[in-house]
Amino acid sequence: MDHFLYRDGALHAEDVPVAEIAASVGTPFYVYSTATLKRHFTLFDEALSWGDHLVCFAMKSLSNQAVIKILGDAGAGMDVVSGGEYRRAKAAGVPGDRIVFSGVGKTAEEMHLAITGGIRQFNVESEPEMVVLDQVAQSLGAVVPITVRVNPDVDAKTHAKIATGKSENKFGIPISRAREVYAMAARMPGLKVIGIDVHIGSQLTELEPFEAAYKKVAELTEVLRADGHEISRLDLGGGLGIPYARSNAAPPLPTDYGALIQRTVGHLGCEIEIEPGRLISGNAGLMVSKVIYVKSGEDREFLILDGAMNDLIRPAMYDAWHDIVPVVEPVPGAEQTRYDIVGPVCESGDTFAKGREMPVVKADDLVAFRSAGAYGAVMSSEYNSRPMIPEVLVDGDQFAVIRPRPTYEEMIARDTLPVWLD
Ligand code: LLP
Repeated sequence: MDHFLYRDGALHAEDVPVAEIAASVGTPFYVYSTATLKRHFTLFDEALSWGDHLVCFAMKSLSNQAVIKILGDAGAGMDVVSGGEYRRAKAAGVPGDRIVFSGVGKTAEEMHLAITGGIRQFNVESEPEMVVLDQVAQSLGAVVPITVRVNPDVDAKTHAKIATGKSENKFGIPISRAREVYAMAARMPGLKVIGIDVHIGSQLTELEPFEAAYKKVAELTEVLRADGHEISRLDLGGGLGIPYARSNAAPPLPTDYGALIQRTVGHLGCEIEIEPGRLISGNAGLMVSKVIYVKSGEDREFLILDGAMNDLIRPAMYDAWHDIVPVVEPVPGAEQTRYDIVGPVCESGDTFAKGREMPVVKADDLVAFRSAGAYGAVMSSEYNSRPMIPEVLVDGDQFAVIRPRPTYEEMIARDTLPVWLD
């Protein structure tokens, strides 16, 4: 559920009419709901309340400082995948002992940053990474806690570009080689093995792939303990999906997911970590855009918006569906039509939806893309020299810009001319 509802004929973000924000900041823009962010974090937190746990928000899904502050203040940890995300987490006041460092290509500089700034654990993804981490840790006189990310070879049944748990994917070490890799880690003086990490993919809409992966992790825990390793923490990754189309059956809830975790690994007495991104931030955000033109093609109507693929890349990149709704509530029985909904960018891939049935709209009307909080603003660019669109945060009846739209001058001034051209 979210806090973007029609009230008095107008779409609201919590208690603020979306049209009021549009009038203030211009379009397109992202808007986030504080109440939805908090609610979704709390759902996960409560779903794991049967044991020792930490919910680490996958910052890659939405990394604005205000969002990190809200979740950090609510008690969330952070899952970071770069020195940039680590710095963002720290800048928003998240203590190092609540920050987990994931990712296949951590550099020695990033390791140095996190060890000196404080880190809960590194999720190590390969032997060469382990060697470098050990060297960096020793050079700093530190012993750093690690888990090893195992690749359980499980089909996550999601879009190929966001599945990560099959043997052909670049992530983790094959689970079949876990014993030798853990033995290698145990010999390294700069590392302290504390657990196992797994993440099989994103936007999973069934629990079965999680169940298959977590059962393998449970078996591996017993095997590694028998080998003499301390396995006291399990990082079970993120990936629980959200209903992008309201008409679809809802994916399993965090409560079901928490119960599944308890059933598969609860008996091991480990501290549980999870790294959800999308389920916390996805339905906490809208992208709001304005209709520039309604253009008649030979056999179709194009709805040309001022938002484009550079602002929200998901449809172009993953054929993703986002519900697109008018900001003025359609009256019951309002005329429906079909549109190809597109942006102004100069390529055909700049298409948000084809033949989408929706109420008739006209130039200057506002439309909202639902479920755009996750992997929306963070994946945006300035392609076609379209300045990054602003992010706005709502809390009750107040709203504030949390990342302003750069002016054209600011955008252009980021380029510098080499002396020989000046
Ligand atoms: N942990 C790890 C190690 C991950 O790689 C990811 C996502 C997550 C946690 C969070 O997954 P979530 O709970 O958000 O599903 N840009 C794509 C999604 C990429 C996901 C990458 N990894 C999209 O727009 O669908």
